[in-house]
Amino acid sequence: MTNLLVTGGAGFIGANFVHYWRRHHPADGVVVLDALTYAGNPANLDGLTGIEFVHGDIRDTALVEKLLADHGIGTIVHFAAESHVDRSIHGPAAFVDTNVIGTLSLLTAARAAWLTGPGHAHRFHHVSTDEVYGTLGPNDPAFSETTPYAPNSPYSASKAASDHLVRAWHHTFGLQVTTSNCSNNYGPYQFPEKLIPLFLINALHGRPLPIYGDGMQVRDWLHVEDHCRGIEACLLKGRVGETYNIGGGAELPNLIVIETLCAAVDAAFAADSGLAARFPDAPAAKGQPTVSLKTFVTDRPGHDRRYAIDETKARAELGYAPARTFEQGFAETLHWYLANEGWWHAVMDGSYRDWVATNYAV
Ligand code: NAD
Ligand code: TYD
Repeated sequence: MTNLLVTGGAGFIGANFVHYWRRHHPADGVVVLDALTYAGNPANLDGLTGIEFVHGDIRDTALVEKLLADHGIGTIVHFAAESHVDRSIHGPAAFVDTNVIGTLSLLTAARAAWLTGPGHAHRFHHVSTDEVYGTLGPNDPAFSETTPYAPNSPYSASKAASDHLVRAWHHTFGLQVTTSNCSNNYGPYQFPEKLIPLFLINALHGRPLPIYGDGMQVRDWLHVEDHCRGIEACLLKGRVGETYNIGGGAELPNLIVIETLCAAVDAAFAADSGLAARFPDAPAAKGQPTVSLKTFVTDRPGHDRRYAIDETKARAELGYAPARTFEQGFAETLHWYLANEGWWHAVMDGSYRDWVATNYAV
């Protein structure tokens, strides 16, 4: 039994992690620290008991230090970040402020709370991305933990910087850290700026599906609950000072993901006549294929071509393996978005519409 501080716990992966942890470790106390940026939504934590939500910024070092002391926190799981590559192209500074300065602030607070005085048993788990490794050619081996860092976007550069800080706080100050670098997550509560929820919601409204470039960029897709299981394995079995790559075993070109999504939407409408009444503008409501919404648009600047995860180390040391195929995980995700229309209507507020106007302006 321990008490956890989960940063960014009102965002997509953080909220899924809090739900997961409460289900599997109900004796642990959980404090969520989240600044509630456009991506944070307290409703993502609805229905949970045994958690305390703190509206605050990870850059507020004094606040973090006080939370660690007041709540007897022994574990930090650090998700809070600016997380969207396209936004990092439009406004890189926020990514340095949150991902680099914010992580520095957390490390500073953790060091003060845990390493001064008598010392405490503790763990700082840092959640990072496979994007720090850069981009792969079609025949290159997948990213392993020893692949040299080569970040290409302001987002991945800021995450790489934060990974280096975490590593340094271990080597220099003895902070007990682990880091995980994972692939593209999908699942419940994902903000509809990322590929899968954006395309699902556009498909339901009969809006174009904007495919960057030729759509042949390759990503590994990881269901968010499998990611949570991977982080749990890092916390329980990971060796201090080590990094672990966590993947979904589903390396797919975007066009295949999009075609899978379109076919699943068509099948859902065919199976449930009520969907046509709820979403009358969907092509599927008019007997047309959803794939007719595919629209090729200008490529993202600096768009990484391929990411792939070699998870040999996580399998061998942590016993980690994804529990779902992409088809299973995607079917669950579609079901969740159809069942939770109220959630995604509520998050698509004014700031979201401003973002769509900026990013997809022609
Ligand atoms: P998200 O954008 O959905 O959520 C981020 C959360 O952090 C939000 O709740 C936001 O309010 C909060 N936050 C932002 N700045 C903050 C600050 N200064 N102080 C406190 N809270 C702040 O992101 P996500 O997709 O859930 O990603 C979580 C983590 O996982 C990030 O570190 C991201 O880099 C990493 N990651 C994500 C993916 C993915 O596919 N989504 C893949 C690999 C790694
Ligand atoms: P995204 O979900 O933004 O994740 P990341 O950039 O971190 O991989 O994008 C996943 C892939 O989908 C990526 O290759 C970019 C592409 N994409 C589009 O083609 N159109 C879109 O509107 C979006 C958001 C992404």
